[in-house]
Formats: sequence, C-alpha cells, structure tokens
Amino acid sequence: MQLLLEPPIAYAESTPKSVRAFQLGALTLKSRYFLSPLAGYTNHPFRVAVRELGGLGLATTELVSTRALLLGSRKTHEYVETSAGDAPLAVQIYGADAKEMCEAAQWLENYGAAVIDVNMGCPVNKVVKNGGGSAMMCNVGATTALVRALVEAVRIPVTVKMRLGWDELNQTAPTLAREFEQAGLAAVMIHGRTREQGFGGNVNLAGIRAVVEAVERMPVIGNGDVRSIADAERMFRETGCAGIAIGRGALLNPWIFAQLCSWERTGQIGAIPSYEQRLDFMARHYDLLVQQRGERGASLTFRKCGGWYSRVLKPGKVMHQRMMMLERVADFEDMVATLRAKGPPPHWKAGEMPEIAVPKGPISHW
Ligand SMILES: Cc1cc2nc3c(=O)[nH]c(=O)nc-3n(C[C@H](O)[C@H](O)[C@H](O)COP(=O)(O)O)c2cc1C
Repeated sequence: MQLLLEPPIAYAESTPKSVRAFQLGALTLKSRYFLSPLAGYTNHPFRVAVRELGGLGLATTELVSTRALLLGSRKTHEYVETSAGDAPLAVQIYGADAKEMCEAAQWLENYGAAVIDVNMGCPVNKVVKNGGGSAMMCNVGATTALVRALVEAVRIPVTVKMRLGWDELNQTAPTLAREFEQAGLAAVMIHGRTREQGFGGNVNLAGIRAVVEAVERMPVIGNGDVRSIADAERMFRETGCAGIAIGRGALLNPWIFAQLCSWERTGQIGAIPSYEQRLDFMARHYDLLVQQRGERGASLTFRKCGGWYSRVLKPGKVMHQRMMMLERVADFEDMVATLRAKGPPPHWKAGEMPEIAVPKGPISHW
C-alpha cells in the first residue's frame, strides 16, 4: 500500500495559474494530459465517464486493426464508436501495410477522428509477427516512410505511440522520433520501457529524456507508471516532456487528470473523491456500458474492470465475486446499494491506495 494523498506540492513561480493548453498540430487541446490506450478498457463508455470528471486533453481508442476496420468487422467498428461527449478523439491504428493504413486513416478522418495515432509499442505476438506494433521500431527506413505517407494522406494530426525500442541494445526511439519529426509527425508518446521489458522494472525516465533531446520542436509525451501528482511532477522534471499520458493510473484514479489540472492552476490537487463519488463513478461507467452494449455485453465488459474497482473499494470477497460474475443490471444496482449502505473500508480514512497493477502472464499475450 502506498499513500496517494500526498501533501500538496507547491508550484514553482513559473507554473501558470491557468491550465496549460497543448498544441497538437493545428489542434489545440485543453490540457497536456492524455488517456493512454488500454485494450479492453479505454472504450467509449470509459472515456466518456473519465471526460466528465474533467482535465483530460485527449483520449485514444484502444489499438484498431486497419485491415479489420476496412473489412467492416463489427467488433472493430465498436472500438471506434464515439459521440459528441467523446471529443477530441484519437483513434489508434495498427497494421503493417502502408497502403491499407493510409486508406484506414482517411476513412477515420471522414468518420470524425481528430487525430490518428499509430501503434508502434504493442508487444503482443499476434501484432509483431506481422510487422506491426513494436516490430516497427526495428526498421527505421520503412517505418519513417510509412509515417510520411500517413501524414500526407490526412489533414488531421498524426501521432505515434512507441516504446524506447525493441530491447536494451536496440533503443531506436530517439532516431525514429527525429526522423518522424522531419516527416511531419505532430507528436510522439513514449512508454519508457523496451518491448523486451514488457511492464517489468521501473519506467526509464532517462530514456524518455533522450527522445526529448533528439527532436527539435515536436512535443514528446511521457508515459509509464504515473499515478500521482508526484509521479507526474517527476516525469516533467526528469524528462522535459511536453505532456503526460496515463493508462493504469486512470483505472485506479479516474480523477487524476482533473487533479493534475487543479495542481497546475492552484498548486493543490483539490478535494479527494469520496467513497460515495467512487461508487457514483463506477455506476456511471456501468450505465454507459449498458447504453452501448446492452445488459449482457456491459456486464461481461464490466467483469474485466471488477479487479480494478475492487483494488480501490475493497468490497470484500463475496462482493468481489459478484462483480466478477456480473450478469444483470439489477445485480449491479443491488451491489452498489449494499456497498453504499456498508460505507467505506477502514483504509479510506488513512488515504491509502493500492499499488498500480502489472498485467500478469507473458508480454506476448498481455
Ligand atoms: C491491459 C493493457 C492494455 C494496453 N493496450 C494498449 C493499446 O491498445 N495500445 C497501446 O499503445 N498501448 C497499450 N497499452 C500500454 C499503455 O497504453 C501504456 O503505455 C502502459 O500501460 C504504461 O503506461 P501506464 O503505466 O500509465 O499504464 C496497454 C497496457 C495494458 C496494461
């Protein structure tokens, strides 16, 4: 367990009293905080629920196969489902065929995407064996040509999300970032680990800094293990990055973007969300899932998130089992009513929050 309710950090004299906007090509974002894509989690309902809490500059879909998109796969089209309350939206694409990726990017631009993000960080075998995801980091020439083709194919900004490289000996991110900048890329998001590292060890802030130093003006967005203001402050300070992307930290604390903006404005993170507000958020998330996927689909998706909610709410074994076996709206409502009646667990008063979870199993499967 670790304290999340750290003392407010005093802002430096140069820190602005209003939230700093972020320029992504021609697009102005309200803040420099990004929701990092998490396959299976950062879907339309979750994005909307998080946006409603404020502070988010840009949210990204989970990775979307360009081939499946062009073939009209129903599941893939669900991944890109969006609404007025979900703007601006970046759609993250992956593939290995440049022509197909450009065609998909144009389709997405017409569909209403504000940004095209290219996945070059995914470690999963299914993706890398065809030359997509982090495999793209191994071929600087071909990958730069692909980025150039994408930038020319659409009018909206194109970004790339990548790792530091394939492994320790092949940290190609600085070289790639420099080439991408010349090709017209709007920004890069760097997860400070190599493909080989998976999610192990600590995020390498010096590695992110090397990317910041390699480019001239293109914004670099730092990513990895940020789940508190102190982590974000350290990421800015040690890497010189222009913005921060948060994935798992937002599952644990969806208020983190609003808190970061509050910290920028006032030097304080603002009121800590109460247990009641946490339950309200969970209920809103589930309700939006039901609206998108119906009772059965929503319940199945929610089961996946049950672990994250349980880590924070500590509802007890029985209630956790109910979350993981959820079938019906009525069960969900009954569960929330029971939790409300029971009130917060003892750790709430002490302000303790759980450690960030690391995905189990081989990185080749996630
Ligand atoms: C379950 C899971 C799914 C992920 N899905 C994606 C994805 O679809 N696209 C992507 O670029 N990164 C994906 N990532 C990587 C995250 O976006 C992020 O780079 C990584 O988790 C480190 O940031 P964090 O510590 O803030 O979570 C995923 C990570 C996890 C744990």
